[in-house]
Amino acid sequence: MSSTGRPEIEIRGLHKSFGDNEVLRGIDLDIGRGEVVCVIGPSGSGKSTLLRCVNLLEEPTAGQVFVGGTEVTDLDVDIDAVRRRIGMVFQQFNLFPHVTVTENLTLPQRRVLRRDKVEAFEVARRNLERVGLADKADAYPSQLSGGQQQRVAIARALSMGPEVMLFDEPTSALDPELVGDVLAVMRQLAAEGMTMMVVTHEMSFAREVADRVVFMDGGVIVEEGPAERVVGDPQQERTRNFLMRILDPAAAEQPGDTTSERPAKEL
Ligand SMILES: Nc1ncnc2c1ncn2[C@@H]1O[C@H](COP(=O)(O)OP(=O)(O)O)[C@@H](O)[C@H]1O
Ligand SMILES: [Mg+2]
Repeated sequence: MSSTGRPEIEIRGLHKSFGDNEVLRGIDLDIGRGEVVCVIGPSGSGKSTLLRCVNLLEEPTAGQVFVGGTEVTDLDVDIDAVRRRIGMVFQQFNLFPHVTVTENLTLPQRRVLRRDKVEAFEVARRNLERVGLADKADAYPSQLSGGQQQRVAIARALSMGPEVMLFDEPTSALDPELVGDVLAVMRQLAAEGMTMMVVTHEMSFAREVADRVVFMDGGVIVEEGPAERVVGDPQQERTRNFLMRILDPAAAEQPGDTTSERPAKEL
């Protein structure tokens, strides 16, 4: 879709309220084709809502979102067609427990994309290989570790042939020793040129892989720029405080500061 010369994802004046609670207060963000943008920020700042507005799991209250030059917030848009172009990976993997890994990948392809059995299996095989789980094709999700299940969830999203991938804290539910394998798969996807929007607290991943880091707080973008600047040399007080808390919770702990008592993962 870069033939239009436009960014792959364009977010313009995006607002989202739940009742009286204005969760997104005017977000403007462009993500170029092949760009990896990490979104960081405290719990409740609107990160998940932002991702969910991009693939229309939430309907924005105001503003526009374009994906590949198509306005997805247009009321006449074919929502299913839009969602097919956008892969999403959540903190919880949401695999079907009663079917095999391969069937987790083939069923959505057959149902949504109407692919025939042979093609769906071939696509599934290729994507399981891509995430390093070719040998788990016939396993059931419960036989896999959390990290393996998350890699299956990534392979499932990839099997739909998305133009962009959205990740919402994909490693937050994992035991620390399983995080690396999932990040490795994401790093590889980025290297292959996938356009990615990643909500994460993995600062080393952000520094290494992200083209840009966006820091959100209170439903607005407080600061954005190259990772080495936003994470390495933040300009805004709020960004500095947040980073201090997640990079070194103990050092940031101050009397009366309840937020710093939560583990970094949950911030
Ligand atoms: N479906 C919903 N209904 C009502 N309030 C919601 C809903 N989803 C999110 N919120 C509220 O929106 C705010 C931001 O949530 P969220 O986008 O999940 O933040 P983050 O992902 O940064 O932690 C929170 O106050 C949350 O309670
Ligand atoms: Mg969230």
